[in-house]
Amino acid sequence: MVTTRRRFYDCGLSEKLLYTAFLLLMGTGYLMALVYLYTTHEGHDGKPGVSMQDIVDTYYGNRSGTRLEAAVRGPMAGYIQQIEDRHHIVAWLKSGAPEQGYRETVRPILEKSCLQCHSPASGLKVPDLSTYQGIQTVAKVDTGESLHTLVKLSHIHLFGIGLVALGIGLVFRLAAVTTWLKATLMVSPFVAIFADILAWFLTKWDPVYAYTVVAAGGLLGLAWAGQMVISLYQIWFLKVPQEEKNSAS
Ligand code: HEC
Repeated sequence: MVTTRRRFYDCGLSEKLLYTAFLLLMGTGYLMALVYLYTTHEGHDGKPGVSMQDIVDTYYGNRSGTRLEAAVRGPMAGYIQQIEDRHHIVAWLKSGAPEQGYRETVRPILEKSCLQCHSPASGLKVPDLSTYQGIQTVAKVDTGESLHTLVKLSHIHLFGIGLVALGIGLVFRLAAVTTWLKATLMVSPFVAIFADILAWFLTKWDPVYAYTVVAAGGLLGLAWAGQMVISLYQIWFLKVPQEEKNSAS
């Protein structure tokens, strides 16, 4: 007896309807996710559409553009004696303006060049740079989504998208395609989800990983679209091949 693998044409009508309804619903869900992604990220950088900069801003944040950086590059530049001092201040801002860095590197520079005016003692109506509290008003750095938020989003995404990928893959296993194509399309979504979420955290550290976020999202979309289109087509249009009919009779 020849055993053949079960294919879509072996399914009854109700099973075909179940798979079709599931795939259409998941397809709609994916489109909704894309619209949501687009509307939350778009225009972050002031330009229409979603750009790489929008994605960088989401995870890495927009770390230039603090009033302190503008001041040391512009109107206050003249008060800095050594050019390295400015580099130290800017580097501190880009690293997220932590308190330890303020105490160890920034405060000594300010003491030497700025605090004669920028402390309450001067009596001037200028930002107080003599305390970490005070410098916050001009050194608030946007470092993107917090780690806590990323962890929260990650576990929701990993569980949710993982189950969707499993569901779509279970349906797709009945498709009649070559083994390597089937395996690739089935495993890609899992690889993509993993890479995508890893890249969120890496982007927080270095903006260059925004490209990984986009590439992984694209891979996920392509792999799902491939599985859905092939499945839906074969559910309704693929006939039992001639040789199987022959062997059955
Ligand atoms: C001689 C006095 C003086 C010194 C020294 C001085 N500043 Fe200022 N600074 C001012 C005054 C006055 C203003 C407000 C007027 C203005 O914005 O130009 C100001 C404004 C600022 C602002 C606010 C800009 C804004 O966006 O409103 C920052 C930030 C700043 N200074 C940083 C510095 C730093 C950093 C140094 C040291 C490298 C420094 N300043 C040295 C007098 C001084």
